[in-house]
Amino acid sequence: MGKLKLNIKDVAPWAPSTEINAMADLATAANKALHEGTLSGNDFLGWVDLPSSIAEVEIEEIDKTAVYLRSHCDVVVVIGIGGSYLGAKAVIDALTNSFDWLQNKRENPVILYAGNNISEDYLFEMIEYLDGKSFGIINISKSGTTTEPALSFRILKNKLEEAVGREEAKNRIVAITDSTKGALRSLAIREGYKTFVIPDDVGGRYSVFTPVGLLPIAVAGINIRMLLQGASEMAKETNKEIAFKDNLASIYAVTRNVLYKNGKKIEILASFHPKLQYFAEWWKQLFGESEGKDLKGIFNAAVNFTTDLHSMGQWIQEGERTIFETTISIDEPNEKIKIPHDSEDLDGLNYLEGKRVDDVNKMAELGTRIAHVDGGVPNIVIQVPKLSAYYIGQLIYFFEKACGISGYLLGVNPFNQPGVEAYKNNMFALLEKPGFEKETVEMKKRL
Ligand code: PA5
Repeated sequence: MGKLKLNIKDVAPWAPSTEINAMADLATAANKALHEGTLSGNDFLGWVDLPSSIAEVEIEEIDKTAVYLRSHCDVVVVIGIGGSYLGAKAVIDALTNSFDWLQNKRENPVILYAGNNISEDYLFEMIEYLDGKSFGIINISKSGTTTEPALSFRILKNKLEEAVGREEAKNRIVAITDSTKGALRSLAIREGYKTFVIPDDVGGRYSVFTPVGLLPIAVAGINIRMLLQGASEMAKETNKEIAFKDNLASIYAVTRNVLYKNGKKIEILASFHPKLQYFAEWWKQLFGESEGKDLKGIFNAAVNFTTDLHSMGQWIQEGERTIFETTISIDEPNEKIKIPHDSEDLDGLNYLEGKRVDDVNKMAELGTRIAHVDGGVPNIVIQVPKLSAYYIGQLIYFFEKACGISGYLLGVNPFNQPGVEAYKNNMFALLEKPGFEKETVEMKKRL
């Protein structure tokens, strides 16, 4: 099997190799701290060994539950927000047919996502779509108390119970949550739902290789063993014993920190494959929530090329020079289309005759990279041999490891998210939630 490759030649002169190499020992120490739990957030390091430490019985149980949902449901709604859905959606979108959900005859259930917003229209339209369809629910919340998924679950559970009765609904609901705490755990115990546990020492955004990611991914028909195999391979390649010069996660972490120190405050993840749009959303959450704190941190953005070359491309080429770009490049597409001959050539495209569409995409990618570097945008390339479960597993673990190292290099705790509470507290005060009486009074004075 092949491996991911990292190319940082286009970051010079903004991140000279002398500055990168000067941070090698710090990166190795940060990596060691992730393995040995010697720095902040050390109670959330379960993900470091997760791809190989997940028990075979757990994988079998996930497979069994996935088979059950696949055979009983045409639609499965994954309820969760942040780390409780982005990893699953990232992998499912990357590895399934983009038009599968539009087909009448499908091998796999349609996967829908709820609980990641509070839009009434979104829920209404989902309920309308579910009407008359046989559906199931995977409800994911580590805390078991997050408002968005809890609200969606209450509404969708009602819908399911109305459709199939309370007893049958219980068979089609799976809860993934903390082993003991939280409202979702109590509800699951009372109703007798099938449950899976999110380990205490794994935070939401690092939880793809727990049932949080693996169950929805398996329901979508993706080989979770291959995903874990790829991740385990990357875990070995980025282990604390691997020297800096060979450790891709450390090199990426250091490079982005040097760029940040030198004024490049925004990192844009670019790809030329629309299937990776949600992979970028997962990446944004991973890095944004891990590093954006203590008044520090790179701002993470994402673009889909060539689509966004006709929108944000202008800004990237000629806007404020505070950005750098990380491109996920896919070596080989899974399918082939050759450009046909046209006897009239009115569109002037015969010069491309016989080439594959991907040949054109690759030149767009190369041309963009050169243009952006010429325009003052440093570029990092992560080369992925193919979009497959094995390589996506590698890529996820690569970014998780790099994020842990990068956060420690930045001097923050990459495993908490204290800032997320601010909006919640205001919302609860405004909604007059019991227990928030004082905050409600304070809030009302400000309106
Ligand atoms: O990465 C994280 O920890 C967060 O994004 C959480 O996943 C998100 O806030 C959802 O939390 P919970 O799973 O407790 O509902």
